[in-house]
Amino acid sequence: MLPSVIELSRPVVAAPMAGGPSTVALVIAAAQAGGLGFLAAGYKTPSAVASEISAVRAAGVPFGLNIFVPGSSSPDVALFREYRAILERDFGAVGTPPPDDDDHFAEKLRLAAGVPFVSFTFGLPPGSAIAALKSAGSTVILTVTSADEARQAIAAGADALVAQAGTAGGHAAVFDPAGYRGDTTAPALLGTMPRDVPIIAAGGTGTAADVRALLDRGAVAVQAGTAFLLADEAGTRAAHREALTGARETVITRAFTGRPARALRNRFTDVYGPHAPIAYPAIHHLTAPIRAEAARRGDPETLHLWAGTAYPEARPGPAADILHALAP
Ligand SMILES: Cc1cc2nc3c(=O)[nH]c(=O)nc-3n(C[C@H](O)[C@H](O)[C@H](O)COP(=O)(O)O)c2cc1C
Repeated sequence: MLPSVIELSRPVVAAPMAGGPSTVALVIAAAQAGGLGFLAAGYKTPSAVASEISAVRAAGVPFGLNIFVPGSSSPDVALFREYRAILERDFGAVGTPPPDDDDHFAEKLRLAAGVPFVSFTFGLPPGSAIAALKSAGSTVILTVTSADEARQAIAAGADALVAQAGTAGGHAAVFDPAGYRGDTTAPALLGTMPRDVPIIAAGGTGTAADVRALLDRGAVAVQAGTAFLLADEAGTRAAHREALTGARETVITRAFTGRPARALRNRFTDVYGPHAPIAYPAIHHLTAPIRAEAARRGDPETLHLWAGTAYPEARPGPAADILHALAP
């Protein structure tokens, strides 16, 4: 059976955006506008995820839930210590990474059972988890950044894929971040995808023409994140919203979390990006107090300002208007 994601009356998915932007209201608004929205389980406690799922279920709309796949590789300890020393020198207190942070993977998998669409980022979930979700009636969507990852995801049992290009805002879904350059565009990446399962294209879409071009190349839908960051229903911080209306360039950086992500360039990406090793989620925890303090001050030079390359097209307003502008 083909997943019903291909039956959206407007083929636009409001991307899961962990860290605040994705809200229950955004997910409901996207569905009511004819698209589909995803709750972002990343960083949240299982009880917060459970209450968001209940709130969207109560609205009676289809929706998705996105989960981070925990990594298996151990970071280079010497490089991590060096980076910590640089941050301590400049900021004083830094965060302490808890041992074995897996973002409550097992509990989130249990909560996801039966959610209509369940997507994953940062790698392949175990085959047993995919099978359990499918037998509970969920459509399982795996996020990939290359044809090789797509083949692995299909072999693992994905019902559909999100093909995330390097132009995308936020963290790259790439399975192995070593050597990630973030230089693919959505149309080019889509052209390399195997066609065994439906493909949702993502990255750098800011206009109806961008979306149309991807549908014409065979995508069943387009997943847009940055375009929704200024939505009334989004939980985007004021300093982030403000920066998105400016004229910075975007860069791929590991400075904030130890995993490559596309963000608006600022002082933090310039100064610390060149020193940051691959060490997610350890560096996420290291920089958390620095970023929390920057958020309190509303300081855009120290905040992680996730943004895709099409951010200059982002407009404020109701999510329904943003979705209708992308898929008229
Ligand atoms: C602020 C922000 C947070 C994001 N968080 C997640 C997430 O939690 N899970 C995920 O799979 N993708 C996440 N993404 C990536 C999106 O799913 C999507 O691939 C991306 O937004 C598409 O590119 P665009 O931003 O150019 O539209 C995030 C993107 C942004 C901008």
